[in-house]
Amino acid sequence: MRAPRLVLATTLFILSVISALLLSSSAVRGTIPSLLSRLSTRFCSSATPASASQATLTSDMTDVKALQEKWRKNLDELPSTPEKIPVFFFGHGSPILETNSNNRGPGFDAVLAWGGPKGPLATFLKDFGPALLKKYQPKGIVVFSAHWETQTERLVTDYGDDNPLLMDYYGFDPEFYQLKFKSKGDSTLAKRVVELYKEAGQRARLTPKTENRGSDGRGFAGPGLDHGVFIPFRKMFGEEFTDIPIVQVSIDSSLSPEKNWALGKAVTKLREENILVLSGGLIIHNLRDFQSFAPQSAKPLHKEFDKAIIDAVSVADATERKKAMVNLTKHPGFRAAHPREDHFVPLYVAAGAGEEGDSKVIADIYGSETVAFGL
Ligand SMILES: *[C@@H]1O[C@H](CO)[C@@H](O)[C@H](O)[C@H]1NC(C)=O
Repeated sequence: MRAPRLVLATTLFILSVISALLLSSSAVRGTIPSLLSRLSTRFCSSATPASASQATLTSDMTDVKALQEKWRKNLDELPSTPEKIPVFFFGHGSPILETNSNNRGPGFDAVLAWGGPKGPLATFLKDFGPALLKKYQPKGIVVFSAHWETQTERLVTDYGDDNPLLMDYYGFDPEFYQLKFKSKGDSTLAKRVVELYKEAGQRARLTPKTENRGSDGRGFAGPGLDHGVFIPFRKMFGEEFTDIPIVQVSIDSSLSPEKNWALGKAVTKLREENILVLSGGLIIHNLRDFQSFAPQSAKPLHKEFDKAIIDAVSVADATERKKAMVNLTKHPGFRAAHPREDHFVPLYVAAGAGEEGDSKVIADIYGSETVAFGL
């Protein structure tokens, strides 16, 4: 089953990339999405085809101010515990956090407004970063992203004084490939991460700047922090962020909830070593159904799934919470939200690293929630 599904996922991904590229030429608008939708439906019955309806967004359909009031309160209420820092799953957004001019055709308006520079996620990230630094004064950041998978063995960046960036996205305007995020790595921290994996009986090794990161399912070669890191980090910490080192660790390409939970759990101790552990993805991520990204255009099933996630992560008892979270993959909305769950499993990484203790939804932004674990 695995191999054909992988091939299918890859094929569909390539198709979505081609369509994204072609959509910039207005002549083919309309034909490609419907073609893609037919292909998706035909070859992958669990996938939600791109909808033909054209929901438009007006920004007053969502109350970013009200959302902000809530997340600011939640950030204020986080315990000041630099001796044991909570771990966060955060909505890492997409390159459109930078601009909302990159329209990819029908139904994309809502996505641009919701995920763009004035949307709630961009606004939240600007509050989130400074709040974390102030509350926890971490001496390092270890980050996981939906965009870096390796099989079985964890790779841990050991990039020295200057973390390179991997521009791992297609079909954006040229300025997207000039984005800067200046940061440094830290060999001592990277080695500590590898050591923790070995202690937990898991495989891990350092990867230097001279090595390509390895297959991440997207065919981009090169070293570097990927856009699941530098795009949100630019919002959180600014374009130049050289005070605190950043080390990135790969997630597991099995996309197994249990395995990704365990690889988060293995680094729990970092939280008591003054290290901030962050894991980024998106609660809803279906590139074949752009409308799923924004609450104004998403289907009821997407919203039900989003709500189910909030309920599961909010379960008070840690054991029951894990059961409810793992069970989310059986939710009827799961595949509609994630044709492939690479953006979902970082939630398990964070939950694993903060398994014991309380959890709390910090920013309840549809599709891109941020959740604290290990409170
Ligand atoms: C698991 O998820 C399914 C589908 O959403 C649901 O019907 C069932 O009640 C859940 N079971 C538990 C134990 O939460």
